[in-house]
Amino acid sequence: MPNKKLWSLTLALLASSAALAFPTKPITFVVPFAAGGPTDTVARQLAEAMRKHLDNATIVVDNAAGAGGTIGANKVARAAPDGHTLLVWHIGMAATPALYRKLPYKPLEDFEYLGIINDVPMTLVGKPQLPANTYRDFENYIRANQGKLNLGHAGLGSASHICGVMWQYAVKLDKSMATIAYRGTGPAMNDLIAGTIDVMCDQTTNTTQQIEAGRIKAFAVTTAKPLSDHPLLKHYPTLQEMGLKDFNLTIWHGLYAPKGTPAPVLQKLNQALRAALKDPDFIKKQAELGAIVASERDKRVTPEGHKAFVAAEINKLKAVIDAAGQYAD
Ligand code: MLT
Repeated sequence: MPNKKLWSLTLALLASSAALAFPTKPITFVVPFAAGGPTDTVARQLAEAMRKHLDNATIVVDNAAGAGGTIGANKVARAAPDGHTLLVWHIGMAATPALYRKLPYKPLEDFEYLGIINDVPMTLVGKPQLPANTYRDFENYIRANQGKLNLGHAGLGSASHICGVMWQYAVKLDKSMATIAYRGTGPAMNDLIAGTIDVMCDQTTNTTQQIEAGRIKAFAVTTAKPLSDHPLLKHYPTLQEMGLKDFNLTIWHGLYAPKGTPAPVLQKLNQALRAALKDPDFIKKQAELGAIVASERDKRVTPEGHKAFVAAEINKLKAVIDAAGQYAD
């Protein structure tokens, strides 16, 4: 047998035996935001569901926060391509290429796409002392106090930043709100509850329990349709119902590995992810927080479907960001 053929056969055998042995040590989910926030919650709940399908491997979460999520993403782009270091990230993967013109990695070239996890609605929320109880009161109060109120977010390119910019643009505020950037909406939520910041647009995975407990006020949801299936969130109007035509924002999350991770390992990870997406306990926990887990019928749960979707989102968000002309660098 010619050497070249023998060599590639050896390589294939090595790769598949590597996959058979995978995982050989704890797996790390890199979350590019602070602990306790929405992305952290998705990653930890997914870890519980996915590890059952990875020989009960230990999955630890590494919160590598900063720069709207790009620091954590870069950490995974540079990690050993052996499947043990993965990235859990959201729409930021698609928004940051346009916002950060000097990104240290290429989103469509430096990662292997493992599949979409879920879609999470957002909520417009305010500190408990905010003198408003309906969306109308809220919008009127913001309009009457332009330049005096602030908005918290998790860094340029984060979901809370994107939503904050989109909402201010949609309601045509004369003066944009002062913004305060955090390493995640986990820590920002503490300041909202304390009344240090006035307003935030944040994912239901981080707001639902605080609204339920009366620790913050909620005014509207960002989805095109009301969240009629959710016992609490069904009570809040959509921004479209409040006159913001076409306002529709949900935050998708995906799983990524470093480029060059062996194909059999990627396949094992994608299979474990898709098994987790069918896990009733994971689906229930996510639904309680308003999140919709991607179904097996959703093309985005395949690596090809996931990558094609993110490529389209990158183009879509680049147009919005270039139109606004606001860049992070
Ligand atoms: C987080 O986990 O803190 C968030 O996803 C922040 C954001 O993107 O708004």
